[in-house]
Formats: sequence, C-alpha cells, structure tokens
Amino acid sequence: MDKSPILITCPKGIPPYLRKEILSIGFPVLSETVSSVETEGTLDDTLRLNLFLRTGHRVLFLIKEFFAESPDQLYEHAHRIEWERYFHKDNYLCVTSSVDHPTITDSRFANLKCKDAIVDRFYRKFSQRPDSGPKRDGVVVHLYWRGKQCRLFLDTSGEPLSKRGYRKIPLQAPMQETLAAAAMLATGWEGTGNFINPMCGSGTLAIEATMIALDRAPGLLRSNYGFMHLKGFNQPLWEKLKKEARALAKKLIQGKIIATDISPKAIEAAKKNAMTAGVDQFIEFRVCDFSETPVPEGGGVIMLNPPYGERMGEIRQLEGLYKGIGDFFKKKCQGYWGYIFTGNFPLAKKVGLRTRRKLPFFNGEIECRLLEYELYEGSKKNVLLPAD
Ligand SMILES: C[S@@+](CC[C@H](N)C(=O)[O-])C[C@H]1O[C@@H](n2cnc3c(N)ncnc32)[C@H](O)[C@@H]1O
Repeated sequence: MDKSPILITCPKGIPPYLRKEILSIGFPVLSETVSSVETEGTLDDTLRLNLFLRTGHRVLFLIKEFFAESPDQLYEHAHRIEWERYFHKDNYLCVTSSVDHPTITDSRFANLKCKDAIVDRFYRKFSQRPDSGPKRDGVVVHLYWRGKQCRLFLDTSGEPLSKRGYRKIPLQAPMQETLAAAAMLATGWEGTGNFINPMCGSGTLAIEATMIALDRAPGLLRSNYGFMHLKGFNQPLWEKLKKEARALAKKLIQGKIIATDISPKAIEAAKKNAMTAGVDQFIEFRVCDFSETPVPEGGGVIMLNPPYGERMGEIRQLEGLYKGIGDFFKKKCQGYWGYIFTGNFPLAKKVGLRTRRKLPFFNGEIECRLLEYELYEGSKKNVLLPAD
C-alpha cells in the first residue's frame, strides 16, 4: 500500500499537543502550521490516527497535488484523478474545502467545481453519478487551495473527530471535546492525583480528563468514519485496532474526579454525557457553587472554565466571580495546580494571583488563554498581584 502525506487539522493553538500525540502513537511529524500537523502513512494508517488522536479534527489523506489558476483548471485536474480507485459510484459524496484564491469569492463554488469533476468522471465511466450533498457521513473529499497550490485529500474522519459522539446534551458555551482534551494535555494530566472541575457545564473537561486517565481511545465511541466508505477499507485491521485499544484501557483511576456546577440542569446533562461516554462511574457530580466544591487531600489539577460574559453589565458581575476564584484557589486548593480557561483577559486579571504560564488557545474564533497557577502548600504564599 502506498504511503502519502497525511494532514491532520486542528484549531489554532493545538498543534503543539497534536504533534506530541502523533509522535507518541508512532508516526513522524513532517511539518506543522498554526492549525495542522503533517505526518505520512498509508490509508490503513489513518485508522490508527482516527482511533487514538484526542486533539486532531480531521485526518486527511493526500491523493493529488497540482497547480490550478482557475476553477476550470481545478476541474481539469480533479477530473483526471482515478476516483474510482477510492470509492464506488453508489457512494454518497461530500466535498469540503479550505480555499483562498482570487477567483473564488464563495468556497461553495470551489466545492461545486470539484464535486462536478468527480461525479462527471463517474458518469463517463459508469453512466452514473454518485449522490452528493453536505452530509459528512459517507465519502468526504477535501480541497485545499491557496494561491496556485491545490491539494486534494480523502477526509478519512468524515465528521470531525471533535464530535466524539458522547455530547448528546450540549449546554451554553460548551468547550469542543478536542479543545478540552488539549487543555488537559497542556496541564500534563495523565491521571495521577485528583482532577477537580468546578463550573463543569456539560462535563466536557471532566469526561476528557477521565478518558485520558483511563487511556481510553476517544475513537472507540464512534461508529462512523470517512474511511469506512472507501474501497479497500481494512475492516479486520479496524477490529484488531479496537481490540488493542480496549486491551490498553485501564479499569481504574488512582485519584478522584469531581465535577460540580451551580446549575442542576448542567449537572443532569453532564451526567448523561458521561454515561454515554461510559465514564460516569468514575466522576463524582454535585450541584453547588464553585466555592463549595470538595477539594480532597493529595493534590492534582483543578480547572475552571468560567463564563466570559458579553455585555458590560454581565462583565461587571463576573468581576466578583473571577476574584472569588482567586480566593477559592488560595484558601481551598493548596497543593494543586490551578487552571482557568477563559476568553476574557481583563476578567482574568481579577483573579489576583501570579500566573506561571499563559497558554494560547482558540475557542472557535475567540482567542483564549489557559492560565496556570501553582497553588503552593504551607509556608510559600501565592503572590497577590495588582496586575498580572
Ligand atoms: C462556560 S460554561 C462551562 C462549559 C463547560 N466547560 C462545557 O464544556 O460544557 C460555565 C459554567 O459555569 C457555571 N457557573 C456560573 N457561575 C457559577 C458559580 N458561581 N458556581 C458554579 N458554577 C457556576 C454555569 O452554570 C456554566 O455551566
């Protein structure tokens, strides 16, 4: 089977964590951009990447690279590719794209041109065009076009890997699963010690933390991937990889995982999501104000993703909340590493503690920071700062 470049996309800020994951599951890193990491391998290799990666969004297998200066040239090149080697005329096809080209003002036009090139080829060969549309539950082809450079990929993930399949009940402003996993990996969390998650919302951080602690492959939760619709899908290999992943997963967690929220609705949703993810028995849930969250002895990681606020009145109210988080850290969380994930930097200053690190992330388009605080035990005091 031929090797090809494999591009794994992710949100901005995540490549440092994605690169580590790729290396740790035995693949090389060839290059990195602000929102992707490139490795290489065969189509079979994409099965392992889809199953084990926590922070990647889409595993894209390169089919062809060429230069195109106009939509017609794109059509010509795409039409010449032997698509029938990769899928059947009866498959459902979706074309997605990332396009920055002066002749294209609406990327849907590039998708359409590329889709036409593919389905017209099938028509020429088999007198039948594959059905096509926006659903990503069948074959997905991805077009990357910048300047003259065009790259056509098979999207072996189909739906992005951030859709693990466990978040049946999303609430307001949930974190994407991949972002939550990256935030946990950024703390160095491996499952030793406790993980405390006040303001847990729909439970994403607690669920991802539990899956990391258990070494549970995130891809086990999903039953549909783009690669399953391709010719030559290696089903025996997929079954073998899933078996390997199940055998690797731990049965127990050393520390405690505690998730709380002031909203009973949030806790109800978080519990249901954790149940769907198969990790509810490892998480203690409680409805309470963040300041009442139990913090057991033994240290570990404590992370909050507080509301950022949009309107001025809201932001003024939140100043007290952020200051309260600083007090909670100082008084109740000694011996822990404290983290706040927020998109509001002026509010973050109200915490009033010295940050050890400020790690950049993006939640959709919102620039965020994961703020790290070392919450010393005993005589060493946290330094209260007027401005950090
Ligand atoms: C941005 S959301 C957290 C989203 C979460 N990371 C997820 O993925 O779903 C903020 C959460 O803080 C909770 N919250 C706000 N004020 C609180 C307080 N004083 N004590 C506890 N929870 C609070 C809200 O109910 C909401 O669920």
